[in-house]
This record gives sequence, structure tokens and C-alpha cells, in this order.
Amino acid sequence: KARLCVLISGSGSNLQAIMDACRGHILNATVVQVISNRADAHGLIRAQQAQIPTEVLNHKTFADRPGFDAALADHIDQCNPDFVVLAGFMRILTPGFVERFLGRLINIHPSLLPKYPGLDTHARALAAGDQEHGATVHFVTPTVDAGPPIVQGILDVLPDDSVDTLKARIHQLEHVIYPHALDQLIKGNVCYRQQKAYWTDGRESNSPDI
Ligand code: GAR
Repeated sequence: KARLCVLISGSGSNLQAIMDACRGHILNATVVQVISNRADAHGLIRAQQAQIPTEVLNHKTFADRPGFDAALADHIDQCNPDFVVLAGFMRILTPGFVERFLGRLINIHPSLLPKYPGLDTHARALAAGDQEHGATVHFVTPTVDAGPPIVQGILDVLPDDSVDTLKARIHQLEHVIYPHALDQLIKGNVCYRQQKAYWTDGRESNSPDI
């Protein structure tokens, strides 16, 4: 089984979807550790309920970003994961950290990247009048939200959508595409190669897959 170390900062609904997929044997993986930079992250309770070890590493107790990232990397190495899974982890990571886990560091972002890197993605998609919106699972590279997409989920923006309704549907979509993308990674159907998501069957890296 693949060993997953999941990093969170908040609700942890994506963590929940991943734990459920592991438990239901949809994913041939085990979440070996959940690390949060916030002690009040609800995802910690979800992990504890599933009897998964948790760790809080409060970034505010470190002098600077490299100091936090070095401690984080050491904690991650101790659980010897195959993949480091960012699931609503709201910290920017230093290039040194990213390089250390390159190809094994995965993120989910609530937009159709390269559209709307950063925050407030749903409001920005609505403000732009986009007809489609979505979420992207991607390899993390040193430039924030710019790594190669592995899987994208797309949905239609409805005429009466608000930020909240759109966000709720994106979340549901995320809970499907994140376990799916991890499954592809664990099966070795896709890997990181020369700054791209390389599919062993030759398909394009960023084509929507579900
Ligand atoms: C998710 O929508 C995820 O895409 C987003 O945070 C949310 C976490 O929800 N991530 C980012 O914005 C990363 N820049 P969750 O805690 O319920 O999984």
C-alpha cells in the first residue's frame, strides 16, 4: 500500500474523502500521518476519529518560513511517505521544500488552473462571468499553483450561483477527483517528468480525465 502524508489547515473534507477511499479499498493506500499548521483545524478531529496519527506544527512558532519548512520536511520524512498530499494546506512552501519532495508532492486547487491561482477563486470565476469552473489536482513545483495538472474536474456555473453554492459544488467535485488522481499516481499511470505530468499511456497531461 502507498503511504500518504496529508497536510491540512482547515476543515479537511478532502482528507475525509481520501481516508474514505482508503478505507473502502478504492485507493490502495494508507494515510500514515496528518499534519496541520493550525491546532484548531477540524481535519485533525476527522483524522483522530479514523485513528490516524496527527501532528500540529504551528508556523507561528518558527522564526521564518525556511525554519518552518525544514521542521515540516523532517516530520514528513519520519513517516516515510510515498506521496505528500496537500489538502487545503494554506501555507506557501519554499523552493527548497518543494525540491525535496518533487514528484511526490501533490496539491488540489479550487480552479481550472492556470486560471485563478491564489485565493478567492470562486468569486473571481463569478466576477469574470465564466461559464465553467472547476478544480485541479497538480504536482507542486516551486512557483505557487503553477505545477503541471494531473486531473481537472469541470462543472457548469449556473445563472444563480453564489460564491457559496459554487464552492459547495466544487468541494463535491474535489472529493471525487482527488482520490481519483491519487489512484492514478499510486498505480504509476502518471508521474512527474521534465516539469510535466507524464502519462505512461501517452495521453496529454492536462486533459480532463473524468
Ligand atoms: C479546498 O477547496 C482546496 O481546493 C482549497 O482549500 C479547500 C480545502 O477544503 N485549497 C486551496 O485553496 C489551496 N490553495 P477542505 O479542508 O475541506 O479539504
